[in-house]
Formats: sequence, structure tokens, C-alpha cells
Amino acid sequence: MERKAGRIGRMSRKDALKLGLLGSAALMLPLERTARAEWSSGDRLPSSQVPPPFQVPFAAPPVLQPVRSDDTTDYFEVTMRSARVPIVPGRPDTEIYGYNGISPGPTIRVARGRRAVVRQINGLPSVSRFGYKTTTSVHLHGNQSAPQFDGYAEDLTAPGYYKDYVYPNDQDERMLWYHDHAIHHTAQNAYMGLAGAYITDEQLALPIPKGRYDVPLVIRDAIFDTEGQLLYSDDDHKSLYGDVVLVNGRPWPVMKVERRKYRFRLLNASLSRSYRLALSTGDPMTVIGTDAGLMPTPQQTGSFRFGMAERYEVVIDFAKYPVGAKVDLKNLGLPNNENYTSTQNVMRFEVASEATDTSSNEVPSELNPNMEVMGLKASQAIRTRTWTFDRSWSLGWTINGKIWDKNRVDARPALGDIEIWEFRTRSSRWFHPVHVHLVDFKILSRNGNAPFGYERGSKDVVYVGEDETVRVIAKFGPRKGKYMIHCHNLVHEDHDMMTQFEVGTGGPDPVTAAPPKALPAPPL
Ligand code: C2O
Ligand code: CU
Ligand code: CU
Repeated sequence: MERKAGRIGRMSRKDALKLGLLGSAALMLPLERTARAEWSSGDRLPSSQVPPPFQVPFAAPPVLQPVRSDDTTDYFEVTMRSARVPIVPGRPDTEIYGYNGISPGPTIRVARGRRAVVRQINGLPSVSRFGYKTTTSVHLHGNQSAPQFDGYAEDLTAPGYYKDYVYPNDQDERMLWYHDHAIHHTAQNAYMGLAGAYITDEQLALPIPKGRYDVPLVIRDAIFDTEGQLLYSDDDHKSLYGDVVLVNGRPWPVMKVERRKYRFRLLNASLSRSYRLALSTGDPMTVIGTDAGLMPTPQQTGSFRFGMAERYEVVIDFAKYPVGAKVDLKNLGLPNNENYTSTQNVMRFEVASEATDTSSNEVPSELNPNMEVMGLKASQAIRTRTWTFDRSWSLGWTINGKIWDKNRVDARPALGDIEIWEFRTRSSRWFHPVHVHLVDFKILSRNGNAPFGYERGSKDVVYVGEDETVRVIAKFGPRKGKYMIHCHNLVHEDHDMMTQFEVGTGGPDPVTAAPPKALPAPPL
């Protein structure tokens, strides 16, 4: 009840003024009680004390080693725990929640076709620094997991419990990511650091950059207080915009590169910030992959819109710059984001030497031509469903006028059905990166036009911008059961822009089919 009653109060006065709602007597009382959702021990770090960009060296997260492997399966163990790590130069260490105590968590690399079992132990303090109970649910975003292993928001693992997640890895190779998905606290858990990359293979024997030239870039923003601690301020559950940009957990790092091509796997792990990425040189980047793996053909672009949870794989060729050159990855900014001086910067590449290895230094003109989803045609769809993402005065963030209800299912495609889903925003004030669990989809159109070149690959999140209607097509399967669909602005998701669909009938129950168990855990 508390949550429902609080909702009206969550709209700020500024918001109400914009909507012309102040003066409506019935609404005055809740507005007077408005409290900003903000938690911190200290004050926001003043902009004069925010560290300048390009001071700290770049690093990639470590790769997690399995605890054991057998003929079919690799077994991994991860403990979610609080840790103190240096992030802001000149400030005390920052408390984070990390998979194995680091953020981003360790990168999990697996081979396509080999099963992975990932034991997730909830070793978090039982009450978070923001005052809520630290239950967790681990979602492997981009994976066609069975419902009970999909990080369903209500499938909660309490501190002192663990859950073994089983992943078949039977899809096309891609960069996925694992992140928290606990009901109503996804944003805070992810903000504290519970996110990491999960990569299936280096794939397809193509001569594209590999090994140390294949680098994940997990990008997010954050707000720090004067004690160097993460400050959570979501402006009455609207959005959180930080003034510090972290790449792989470090503020605006500098990466030394050789004069050759690199493959960067970019993930936007921000709660609410979207970026328009471009190079400071103005040179185009070559996009070779989207959320669900390599695209059919590479696409050149000068900049691209990068929504929360999207992944883009980009090849940058540093051979065209002399040793000593500095090339910055910039954020040109997008509507309805709050910008700060330094949020126009993401990171810096410093061309430090000639190439020490020139193998796998190409981008073939054909990359991944036979993806099933990219072959789908609108004429194959047996129905179209419309999903409208909106803000409601009384409910908060809604999909088709409703908020999350674990007992309601809003779409029931049969196993194997091909459907067109139409996502709509009807406001110039919000954008919503829309994510569908279980399936990969192909974007058919945006406001009646072809998708951007860099979106012509298999996706699981689509940027639904201001006043946009985006049509996507997907085949529903290969598993039965209930799966979520939501906005990947995690503040919106938590309050409560999320619903679910059910594929077929008789699928496993996401909450009861594989419940978490109390520690101590037997050996894997
Ligand atoms: Cu990346 Cu339902 O989440
Ligand atoms: Cu997902
Ligand atoms: Cu949203």
C-alpha cells in the first residue's frame, strides 16, 4: 500500500508545473509531502571537485575462471559483496556492491554450445546503504534462459542464500551482460555496481580483431558525494543523471593503443543516461555488431545513439593516426538527458606505438549473413501488438496504461509464433529503451522510416525516442514460460514500467521451479 499511496507524491513540483497541474486543489496535499528520493551520507561533490577527465589508466575487467569443467559444462562461482574501491582520485575509497566485489564484475567468457552453471551467492550486507533489504535476482541479458534462470524480478535471493543459474549458451555468439533485476531495487543494485559482461566466443573465424584487441567497454555514469561515496538521486523516480562517466569502473580513463584496428564491445550500463557517441577526430567508426552479435554487414557511422542496455561492437582503426595522437570518445549528447561539463567525454585513446601484431586486422564486407532473425519478413507475422510507454499521473511509469503486476500477463504468443511488436512513446519529454527478454528481434521501422544503419543487426533493446513508434519483428521461443518486457531506464523499470508475456502454456514457473537455497552451499 505504501508504494501506491506514495506515487502521486513522487511527481515533483517542477514536473507538475510543466504539466500545468498546480492549482488543482485535489493534488496539492500529496505534492506538499513530496520527498526527493535521495540517499547519501554527504553532499554531492561540487563540480569544482569532480576529477578532470583523462587522468587514470584504462583497464578491462578480469576474466572469470571456472571452478571446474566437465565434458559439457563450465561451473563458475560468484559472490555478490560489498567492497571499498578507489574510484575518485583524492577521495576516500567508494563502497560498491560487486560480483566478486568488483564493478563491473568479472567478464564471463564461454564457448557457444557449452553449458555454463553460474552459482550466484548473495553475500551482501542485509540492508543496503540506501536502506532497503538487499535481495537480488541475476539476469543474463541477451540470453534465452529458461524462466527460472532468467532473473525474474520476483525470483529473489536473500542475503545468506545462493542460486545456481543454468545457461545453455545455444545462441549466436554475442556480448551479453549479467546484472541485478530485483523487483523495485534493480536501479539501486545496478547503481551500486552489480553488472558485468558475459561473452560467448570470439566467433565465426573471421579476421576481425581478437584477443587483446577485442576489448569490452562498460560505460555508466554516477554521482559521488564529498566522502567519495555513490549518491543515489533519481529526481522523484524520474531518472538518475550522474556527472561522472565511468568506463569499466574508472572515470574517463586513458587507453594506450597500437596503430591498428581494435574491436570494442560497448555496453551502456547507465541507469538513465543515453549517449550519442562519436570520435573527437570526426572520423567514422565501423559498427560490426549489435546487441545480439555480429551484423550481416558492417556499417560506417559518424555517431550513434546509444541507449541503456544496448550493445554496439565498433571497430576503430588507429593506423590512420601517428604515434602520440589522442583520440577521444565523445558524447555529443541526446535530448532529455541532463548534461554536465564532463559528460561530453567518455574516454581517451592514446596512440602509443606501432602495431605489434597485424593479424586479424580486417573488417570483411560480409560478417554474419545468415542470422535467422534478420531474415524475418513483416509478411510472416501472424499478429501485431502495440505497447505504449507513458507516464501516468496516478501510477507512475506505465506500459499500455498499467504497471507491473506479477499476476497479470499481457501477451500470450504461442511457441514459434512470429509477431510484430510496435513500441510507442507519446511525449517529447521522455525516451524509453525498450527491452524484451528471451527473444532477439529485428527492427522493421521507426516512424515509418528504415532503422538507422547501425541498427541493422539483431537486437534485444531498441531506443524508442521522443514521439517515436518503432516496429520490431521476432519469433517467440525457443522456450515456454513467462518473460518480462520493460523500459531499461532502470528507474522507470522499478516504478513500474514493466510487464510480462507468456510463450506457450505449461512453461516452468519462474519463481518456484528453482528456488534459491540457504548457505552453506555444497561444492559445485
Ligand atoms: Cu537488462 Cu530485464 O534486463
Ligand atoms: Cu534482459
Ligand atoms: Cu523509460
